[in-house]
Amino acid sequence: MDYLEIVGGNKLSGEITISGAKNAALPVVAATILSDKEVKLTNLPNVVDIRTLIKLLGMLGSEVDHKETTAVINNGSINSTKAVYEIVSQMRASILVLGPLLTRFGECEVSLPGGCAIGQRPIDLHLKALEAMGAHIEIKGGYVRAEAPDGLKGAKIVFDKITVGGTENIVMAAALAHGTTTIINAAREPEVVQLCQMISDAGVQIDGIGTGILSIEGTGGEPLTFDSPVEIIPDRIEAGTYLCAGAITKSEITLNKVNQEHIQASIDKLESMGCSFTMDADSITIHPAEKLLPVNLITTEYPGFPTDMQAQFMAVAVISSGESLIEERLFENRFMHVSELNRLGANIWLKGNTAAIHPVEELNGAVVMATDLRASSALVLAALVANGTTKVRRIYHLDRGYDDLEGKLSSLGADITRKSE
Ligand code: UD1
Repeated sequence: MDYLEIVGGNKLSGEITISGAKNAALPVVAATILSDKEVKLTNLPNVVDIRTLIKLLGMLGSEVDHKETTAVINNGSINSTKAVYEIVSQMRASILVLGPLLTRFGECEVSLPGGCAIGQRPIDLHLKALEAMGAHIEIKGGYVRAEAPDGLKGAKIVFDKITVGGTENIVMAAALAHGTTTIINAAREPEVVQLCQMISDAGVQIDGIGTGILSIEGTGGEPLTFDSPVEIIPDRIEAGTYLCAGAITKSEITLNKVNQEHIQASIDKLESMGCSFTMDADSITIHPAEKLLPVNLITTEYPGFPTDMQAQFMAVAVISSGESLIEERLFENRFMHVSELNRLGANIWLKGNTAAIHPVEELNGAVVMATDLRASSALVLAALVANGTTKVRRIYHLDRGYDDLEGKLSSLGADITRKSE
């Protein structure tokens, strides 16, 4: 199994280019199912999760020509509507095929994703909304079996919790439904906006894009045509992670191809910690803090502070000059990185969904274990400043979502090597 060996203490410098957003690319790939013609996608991140979803499409009968950052997908040849456990258990986001398969083919079977390291992550809201649109849903043998032989019908959906994946599934389902679907309390994440924009560019009337109320005029079963290539937006979480790398190593680094608006919450928190920034049209340079100040943050939905940046900020807070408090509001178990950071010498206490981070003078290298995608990057960040060598094991989590992490960090001057054991 691969692991990363990191020798801490190097200053970083230089510039890197941010890849396309994994969390935007996943629903965009799923949305190609809404069409029976060729769709071209560009700026895809070269990460395992994208390859997994593309493999799933292949199993459904799609024709896919995927080369690193581009894919040409033709879903005219789909001959199966069953998303099997072997794929869905590898990646929960496979549930995103549920809405588009059901709305285009009137039936599908998608494995239930099961548990996850960061929390229960149920899909009840996705299912309830599809039922409101007329689907008949049954859970049997670990699979969601959904049917709507006469097509889905537009409905008023009120999400009692904001859900990114739920909003995406219902936007896709609504695109080919009969009549208008209104989603109240929709997610406003940039990844949801990209999906809505893609579907709207294909001729579907969508009102309220980027707001909490979306109204989607379905085509009544007519598949969509995506004439222009869809370019995936920059990854705001990857960008935020490299800003944290600059902050923790006290280095000046520049990120190209970023959308500053999407990373504003991370910029604000790093400014409050004493860092400063210079920005160009689509690039940003972090100037490190002379004295890194503590931070208090609460994770919440966009445009608030993202849960996907919580672990990385905790790593930075570990070596700041005072006590920080981090409250996790979205996922009940998203603190798996705490005990691993403590193994590197951090002093973090947990009470309920709040972590109190008492600053330490230094961290020391150790063997640590990655537990989920973002927890893994927090361990890498801490290792960059730990004395001596840190081994980060189980990095298949990192490979799911970070495009060439060790290549990008090495090019900035970090001593980081991928090894096998
Ligand atoms: C997406 C992101 C993930 C991010 C999360 C929150 C992708 C592929 N993943 O995950 O990186 O951390 O948004 O920003 O885009 N919930 C329910 N019932 C449901 C659906 C969700 O109770 O049917 C709960 C979840 O358990 C969680 C909260 O709602 O507590 C938000 O989850 P959701 O926004 O759906 O996250 P994902 O779409 O799975």
